[in-house]
Amino acid sequence: MGWLSIALNSSIGKKFVMALTGICLILFLVIHLINNLTLFAGPELFNSVVKGLDGIKPLIRVIEVILALIFIFHIYEGVRLWWENKKARPVSYAVNGSSKNSDIFSRTMIWTGSIVFIFLVIHLRTLWVTFNFDPTVHEGHRYYDAVVSAFQSPVYSLFYVVAVVILGFHLNHGFQSAFQTFGWNHKKYFPFIQKLGMIYSTLTALAFASIPIYFLFFFGGK
Ligand code: HEM
Repeated sequence: MGWLSIALNSSIGKKFVMALTGICLILFLVIHLINNLTLFAGPELFNSVVKGLDGIKPLIRVIEVILALIFIFHIYEGVRLWWENKKARPVSYAVNGSSKNSDIFSRTMIWTGSIVFIFLVIHLRTLWVTFNFDPTVHEGHRYYDAVVSAFQSPVYSLFYVVAVVILGFHLNHGFQSAFQTFGWNHKKYFPFIQKLGMIYSTLTALAFASIPIYFLFFFGGK
């Protein structure tokens, strides 16, 4: 496996891991969002979708482990690339004057990513742990009620909205950067990829943010 470790430790190998894991996370977000949007149809549909997923638990557990590994690889390589770039170029762009190819989104990937990570930990603690281990929620299939209760907190809802907007910034640069890494940066098509990334990241952030806003509005804050 020596060749694999040499490949993964080369700078193109690291970028490739970032791009591949980033695209997998982008696809995961699409599926996760479709699932979450069923909340707008009311408790019956949402509870039955989650109950259905609970019925194929072994498969869901395997997918969760794969997803966790993808996150770990993405974060590990992201921090490594950021650290190596920092060591190689100790004077920051802010002091240098920013370059054209390095806009605010690309220069803040490590910070937007870190906030997404903190959000992820709190989000898992608030909803994933409750869905799986709170007996009243899990055994009674009262998943919708657990969401209502989480978003009745204005503090949690506000934090959620801010975090998904920051996720949108991460995705805006991440989307085009991943395609660039795969070599899809032909000057004729790249503006289209950039536009697509902008549309995807804006819609994703708005759609995720609409959920806590809806619950705060309809179920009131406490
Ligand atoms: C759902 C969550 C996430 C998604 C969808 C996502 C997506 C992406 C994508 C598509 C890229 C571009 C890859 C490339 O340059 O080829 C990227 C880059 C990056 N991500 Fe994420 N990411 C997520 C979470 C995170 C987290 C939690 C961190 C933690 C630090 C992070 C840190 C980074 C960094 C530092 C880069 C830039 C790497 C570089 O090219 O220098 N990301 N992300």
